[in-house]
Amino acid sequence: MRITDHAGTSIGASVADFDHTSASENDIAALKETVYRRKIAVLKGQDLSPQALLELGRRLGRPETYYEPMYQHPEVSEVFVSSNVPENGKQIGVPKTGKFWHADYQFMPDPFGITLIYPQVIPAKNRGTYFIDMGAAYAKLPEELQREIADTRCRHSVRKYFKVRPHDVYRPLSEIIDEVERKTPAVLQPTVFTHPMTGETVLYLSEGFTVGIEDAQGKPLDDSLLKRLFEATGQLDRTFGHENIHLQSFEKGDLLVWDNRSLIHCARHTTTPEPTVSYRVTVHDGRKLHAGLEAA
Ligand SMILES: [Fe+2]
Repeated sequence: MRITDHAGTSIGASVADFDHTSASENDIAALKETVYRRKIAVLKGQDLSPQALLELGRRLGRPETYYEPMYQHPEVSEVFVSSNVPENGKQIGVPKTGKFWHADYQFMPDPFGITLIYPQVIPAKNRGTYFIDMGAAYAKLPEELQREIADTRCRHSVRKYFKVRPHDVYRPLSEIIDEVERKTPAVLQPTVFTHPMTGETVLYLSEGFTVGIEDAQGKPLDDSLLKRLFEATGQLDRTFGHENIHLQSFEKGDLLVWDNRSLIHCARHTTTPEPTVSYRVTVHDGRKLHAGLEAA
């Protein structure tokens, strides 16, 4: 196994000659260290079935199966499928996922630490995923703003981006909204927490899933504060030219492993629709999102 940090950027490293079936415990530890230190590790030259992808994920932690069945791979339910390419006339997985800034499972009470994405059908023109390192973004915030959000909490919800399912057709919208609020009530997390693996201070919020901010006593704070945070971190830049935004490209055979505590990401927007398919496995890495959840 050979690890090479990507030059000219603080994010990303390539990992060559990695085989999950023969990797030693030391290899796995080195891979995870790379994920936390460089935020994205690109495993090169992978050729894996959905089941093998799951086995690779298991080497890194405990897989989490996505809670909505329509995203699950028909044979391996732990594999989440994003696809706009029907197979034998049938939709597999869900098209157009994640075209907004978010951390995976941010709206859930117990988000996982690591995301693995394995692109299957790669768009010819608009490939890659946008990322923002929210540890680095926090460090760059004006001190005043850092002070303003100390001891605050953010409310996260899936409500803005919940995708209606085939069986929701003909259901009243109010009933669907009630179900979403009942099954996935908004969760509160500290706006800023210490990354349990690196000790970094991470700003944990995203334009897609964060719907409110409140003080330590639970008093809602003005939404303009959230807006200033989205703006300062680069999430409102529709050109994706903000200095905080990193475009991670990939080619066939690449498998991206990233730090889902530090990074928020956004699927690349395409003006012309291109076929795109990717598989995802997500794993708990032995620690909770932050120390505050350990006792819970
Ligand atoms: Fe995502």
